[in-house]
This record gives sequence, structure tokens and C-alpha cells, in this order.
Amino acid sequence: MNYNKVTPEIVERLAAIVGARHVVTSEEKMESFSHDETPVEQYAHMPEVVVAPRTAQEIAEIMKLANAELIPVTPYGAGSGLSGGAIPVFGGIVISNERMNKILEIDYDNMMVVVEPGVVTNDINAPIAEHGLFYAGYPMSVETCFVGGNVAENAGGGKAVKYGVTGRYVMGMELVTPTGEIVQLGGKLVKDVTGYDIKQLIVGSEGTLGFVTKVILKLSPLPKFKVDLLVLFRDPKSAINMVPVIMSKGGIIPTSIEFMDKLSCQTSCEYLNEHLPYHEAGAMLLIEVDGTRQDAVSEDAETIGELCLENGAIEAYVADNYTTQERCWSVRRNIAEAFKVVSPHQSLEDIVVPIAAIPAFIPEVEKIAEKYDILIPSYGHAGDGNLHSTLVKNPKHSMEQWFDIEKKAVVELYEVVKKLGGTISGEHGIGCKRKPFMNIVSGPQELELMRRIKRAFDPNNIMNPGKIFDME
Ligand code: LAC
Ligand code: ZN
Repeated sequence: MNYNKVTPEIVERLAAIVGARHVVTSEEKMESFSHDETPVEQYAHMPEVVVAPRTAQEIAEIMKLANAELIPVTPYGAGSGLSGGAIPVFGGIVISNERMNKILEIDYDNMMVVVEPGVVTNDINAPIAEHGLFYAGYPMSVETCFVGGNVAENAGGGKAVKYGVTGRYVMGMELVTPTGEIVQLGGKLVKDVTGYDIKQLIVGSEGTLGFVTKVILKLSPLPKFKVDLLVLFRDPKSAINMVPVIMSKGGIIPTSIEFMDKLSCQTSCEYLNEHLPYHEAGAMLLIEVDGTRQDAVSEDAETIGELCLENGAIEAYVADNYTTQERCWSVRRNIAEAFKVVSPHQSLEDIVVPIAAIPAFIPEVEKIAEKYDILIPSYGHAGDGNLHSTLVKNPKHSMEQWFDIEKKAVVELYEVVKKLGGTISGEHGIGCKRKPFMNIVSGPQELELMRRIKRAFDPNNIMNPGKIFDME
């Protein structure tokens, strides 16, 4: 693409739109906007300017300017993404949503909340808890990620087995299009079939179709009771084998079925200085059940625990108070961060397969690990068929060898997943990290349809270019 550079004159015009205080051009201050949580040495790219607008009108003006001048624009939230979705791969303008961080309205009667995109996801829950409500989106980075990023990526997370993913709760939004129009989509409506459902097209479009400036989210009744089970198994296969059994034979849809193999659990425990009984097991499941009646919740947890023990589990520990539950969940939530610290050279994957196929996946990963002589620990949302197998560089390999192995092993992994009826990302997105592999799972007709949609929204391809697929 032949984009134009951000000149001092463009910087001045941006300052006139958002105020000079909210325009950043120093390398040092822009550094944090050059990457997300993907490895910096592989994916980082510096923006030419970062702006932090306050309103949709300001963003619309920026988009009009960028269109007229043919300058790429990349939306940026909390930077917790895992596929390079917010990296300005062509430089240009980064629009940070950090100043758009207000909860605009809590509508208790309709059980909905209207928020700006820079609100930290977890912060929605504090003011509504005492009213017996919660927002069911639960990405593992819930304490740091922004709602805008959750919408852009259609974030999943740890409660999707029962509650589904972000898109289920997005009832409406305000969108600034790449050509600078401000559009209202959807509303506080439970049903709405008035024309195309554009808001759900925006959900998960990775910031390539516009900038979300307001979101209407549906809230749920806060479950009064929950029980977590930490179930220990001899090896990953026996733990994973249990997943389809719980749901089909147990007749219970739990809130969560999270999987951690021994290395994942151990790495996170060591990072947090926490002590879960990982040395007793080769893998474990963290299963949560929630509901409004204590006896029903306890009974479901008991049924699941017994089913696991009948099917080869070594032990099932019950966590029925906030402190122990949070200890287990904190270990689970921090695995990615812990691996990043101990093995910075890695590829965190996000494959998803039909849940009945998930037992077939683990032995295939083990084969790939053996073939390339690398570790591939796995953890993730087993109840959704969504695992974060992580390819970790073997210290004995050079960086050159590692990059070669990474590429080959990832392709083999994706081929396995495809064969099992799955795909290459369940919740992290394609971004720039997985763009080269889209054609493994998406056919040419599907990709061409996506390109046509992209052109309809963004004729000059200035909105987050270089993500998901190439335009040619
Ligand atoms: C998790 C992130 C990596 O599940 O998606 O921990
Ligand atoms: Zn995850």
C-alpha cells in the first residue's frame, strides 16, 4: 500500500482536533503503542503519531483527515491483545481510546449498561453488584482489558460455556466509520431484525471496519452461589477426555470447564508464588457451577465431581468460598503472563475444535512437540473446545531455527485443527499474527466476501490495514 507519511502539518491538524495535549510524537511515549502482548521482536511496529480523542465527533474528524490524506489509522485499547490486532503495522495514526473511559448509563430496569470503549471490563461490575447484576463477559485479562477491545475481538474467556462470548451481550453501539460518519446501531432491544445486523458484523471485526465509541451491553442476574472444583487427573488426555462426558452424560452445563496441564499450572503458580497441587497431577480441570439456589449448585458440583472420579480423576477439591475460588482462578488467569515472563520466545495459540473432538487434539499436539523437539504446554477453555497450546522455543535452538520451527509447527497444528473441524482462533483473533495462515481455514470465496465488505466500509483501506487478510 502506498500510504502517505504523517507530516508536521498533519500533526498540527490533529492537535487542532483533539488538543495538543492529547497528541504524542515522542518515540519514548509512543513505544507502548507499538505492540500488544505478542512477542515484540516479531510483531512490534512504531506509530508515527498517537492521539487520544475524547468524543466520537473528534474521531470522525480524524477519519476524514486520514481518508483525504491516505494515512493509516489503528485503534488502540489496553494493549492486552494476543494477535497484533492493535499494532500499527504501516505506522500512521494510532487512536487510543484511553480517554473514552466513562460508564455513561446504568439502566437497571432494562438490565443494560452504556459504556465508552476505554472502560476496563471488570470495572462495569463494581457499581452493579449491589443491585444483583453483573456483566457476563469474562476474558482472562478482565482486570486490565478494555470493553472496546473485547468488542473488536469478540472476546471469549472463562465463563463462555454457560454465558457465551462478548457478542451475545452487545445490544447496540455507536460507530465511527472509516470514512468519518457517526452511526447508531441497535439499541436496548432484546429483539431486532430491522435490516442487516451490522453491529454483530462489527463485533469481532478487529477494528478494521470502524471505531466503536459507545457500547450498549446486556447485564445478567448475579448468581448468588457458586462452587469451583479443582479436579486432578493423571495426564492431559484423561482430563480432556472428561470434557464432552461432563456435558453430554452429566446433563449439566457448568459455567466453566478450564483446563491446565501440569507445566501451565506450575509456571503460573511459581510466577504468583501460589500453591495448587500440580505436582500430584499431570493435568487438571477447573470447573465452576453457579446459580441462584445453593442446594442446586452444590448438587450439580457433586454430580460433576463424582462423574470425574468415576472416569479416572485422582482427586476433586471443592472451593466454595471466594478466597479459594479466587486463588484457583488467579492461577488460571495468569498462565499466559507467566509463560511470557519465563519463555519470551513462544507462540501462544488459540485453536478451537468442536468439543467432542477435543480429546483427539491433545495426542496430535504431543506428536508435533516431539517432532520439533519443543515444549507445547496447553491450557484454556476446554469446555468451549478452545485451547491455548503454546509453542515454546527450546533453548538449544538458535533464533533462526526457532522461527523456522515455529512456522512449520504452527502450520501442522492448524492442519490438525482443520481436520478436526476446527479453526485457528477462538477468541484472540487473526490480527497480523495469523493473517498468513487464514487461507488454511478460509476458502477463496469466503475471503473475497470479506474483502468486499471491507471495501464497502473502507474504500481507501486506511482503517487498521494489514490485519486478518490482505486486500489483494
Ligand atoms: C487465557 C488467554 C490467553 O485464556 O486467552 O488465559
Ligand atoms: Zn483464553
